[in-house]
Parts: sequence; C-alpha cells; structure tokens
Amino acid sequence: MAAGPYSEKVMDHFMNPRNVGEIDGADGVGEVGNPACGDMMRLYIKIEEGRVRDAKFRTFGCGAAIASSSMLTEMIKGKTVDEARAITNLQVAEALDGLPAVKIHCSVMAEQAVKSALDDYEKKHAG
Ligand code: FES
Repeated sequence: MAAGPYSEKVMDHFMNPRNVGEIDGADGVGEVGNPACGDMMRLYIKIEEGRVRDAKFRTFGCGAAIASSSMLTEMIKGKTVDEARAITNLQVAEALDGLPAVKIHCSVMAEQAVKSALDDYEKKHAG
C-alpha cells in the first residue's frame, strides 16, 4: 500500500537505498547539483570491458532524489557505456513507477550524474 503521493517502489528505494557509498579507485566520478533546489548527487562507477560493473552514490537531497539515485545505480549495472549514457531521467522515474509531477526534476540529477561520471571516465581513459 503506497502512502501519499509516492509509489511503493519510491518508498522502498528511499527507505532502503541500494548501492549507497563510494568506490575506491572509481573509473569515473560524476558530481551534479540540482539548480531547482540546491541538492547534490555524486556517482561513482567502475567500468570493466566497456560495461558498468559497479556503481555507488552519495546523494544529499530529497527522498525522490535518493530513490532516483538508488534506482539509477541498479539500472546502469551491467550496461555498456553507451547504454548507460542513453538512460533518461524519465526512464528512471518510470522504473520507480512514476514520480509526482513536482518531483520529476529530482530524477534529472540521476541522468546528469551518469553522464558526468561517464565523461570523467572517458577523459581519464582518452588516448
Ligand atoms: S527537491 Fe531537490 S532533488 Fe528533489
């Protein structure tokens, strides 16, 4: 039974977020801020053979941002770099069975963080 405006999945990922933490020696780190509210997300990724092998996050933000971060880390694990880069915030929100319209912006950080972490990875591994 979902309480209030949030789906059960959002509540689950907010109360029991997956993959919280940092990765020592991460291949890419992305840090983004949400201009709408000032919240922040940092994403650590480990890449092996062109795929995301591990992902962890630290999010200083609202419940929807934490649930989006948690879901994002689950979604990108095992994906190729290109597949991970193609994930949109709306796909993250959809995987959470939706977010209230006023909280959609909270999922934008998840999309931006993965792009930022992959940019960092590609910069470190260029040439
Ligand atoms: S209110 Fe800031 S990310 Fe949700």
